[in-house]
Amino acid sequence: MPLAVADVTSVSDFDAIIPLLYSAYQTPYNPLFKHCFPPLPTSEAAQQYWKDYLARQWRDNKSTRHWGKVTDEERGMIIGAAGYSIERGGQEERSDRGEEDDEKHLPEKGSVERVFMERLVDELAVGPLRKCVGERAHVELHFLVVHPDHRRRGAAGMLLNWGRKLSDEAGLETVVISTPAGRLVYENCGFTLLEIMPQMEINSVGETKWTDAEREQWREYASEDLGAYLLWRPAGHDFVEGVDAQPC
Ligand SMILES: CC(C)(COP(=O)(O)OP(=O)(O)OC[C@H]1O[C@@H](n2cnc3c(N)ncnc32)[C@H](O)[C@@H]1OP(=O)(O)O)[C@@H](O)C(=O)NCCC(=O)NCCS
Repeated sequence: MPLAVADVTSVSDFDAIIPLLYSAYQTPYNPLFKHCFPPLPTSEAAQQYWKDYLARQWRDNKSTRHWGKVTDEERGMIIGAAGYSIERGGQEERSDRGEEDDEKHLPEKGSVERVFMERLVDELAVGPLRKCVGERAHVELHFLVVHPDHRRRGAAGMLLNWGRKLSDEAGLETVVISTPAGRLVYENCGFTLLEIMPQMEINSVGETKWTDAEREQWREYASEDLGAYLLWRPAGHDFVEGVDAQPC
C-alpha cells in the first residue's frame, strides 16, 4: 500500500487531519494533550473549533504556515500530517498568536485548569524556545501525527523529509517540542536534543485561594508524565555530532 507525501492544498484536508490529531495523541495517551486541547465545551465542539481555527490560520497565512500530509493511496485516506510555521523573529508577531474568540475554548480564567495550562505552556514551551532561538528567525514544527493503525510505515519520516526541504529553502534552523514518542523520530532525521523539560517547576500549587479539591486537582495534573523534549536542527543541514555546536 504505497504512501505519498504532499502539501495540504485545501481547507477540506483539515476535516481528516483534526480527528487524526486527536486519535494520534491518545495512542499512546499523552497527558499534555488535554491541557493543550481542552475538550471545551465538548470534545466535538473543541474538534470543530480546531478544524476551523487551523484551516483558517493556514488559508490566511500561506507564506508562513505550512502543512504536509501523507496519504495511503490505495485507501485514499490521509494517515499522517505535519504542521510547520516560519517564525520571522525580531519584533514580528508570532504566527500562532491567538484570536479573540479563543477564550470560550479555554478553561475559565483563574481556574486550576487555566493556571496549570498557562504555567505548562510557559515552562515547557515559551521559556525554553526563547532561550534557544532567542529573536532569530526559525522554523517551528507544531504537529507531527500518524494514525495509530499506520505507524512504522515511514509516514513520519516522509513528513520530516518534506519539512527539511521547507527549512532548507528558507535557510532557517528548525525547532520542535516533542513528546517522548517523537524524540527518536526527530533524532533519526537530523535533529539533536537540546533540553529535556522537567516537571518540577509546575509541581508547586499555584494559588493560595484555591480549595482543597482544587489543590488536589492540581496535584493530579502535576503527577502525570508531562516531560517534553526540545530538539533542534541547524540551518541548511542535519546536525552532525562533534561538528555542529548546539545553540544553547
Ligand atoms: C511519533 C510518530 C509521529 C511516529 O510516526 P511513524 O509514522 O510511526 O514513524 P516512522 O514509521 O516514520 O518511523 C521513523 C523512525 O522513527 C523511529 N520510531 C518511530 N516510532 C518508534 C517507536 N514507537 N519506537 C522506537 N522507534 C520508533 C524508528 O527508527 C523509525 O524507523 P524504522 O521504522 O525504520 O525503525 C507517531 O508514533 C505518532 O503520531 N505519535 C503520537 C503523536 C506524537 O507523539 N507526535 C510527535 C510529537 S511532536
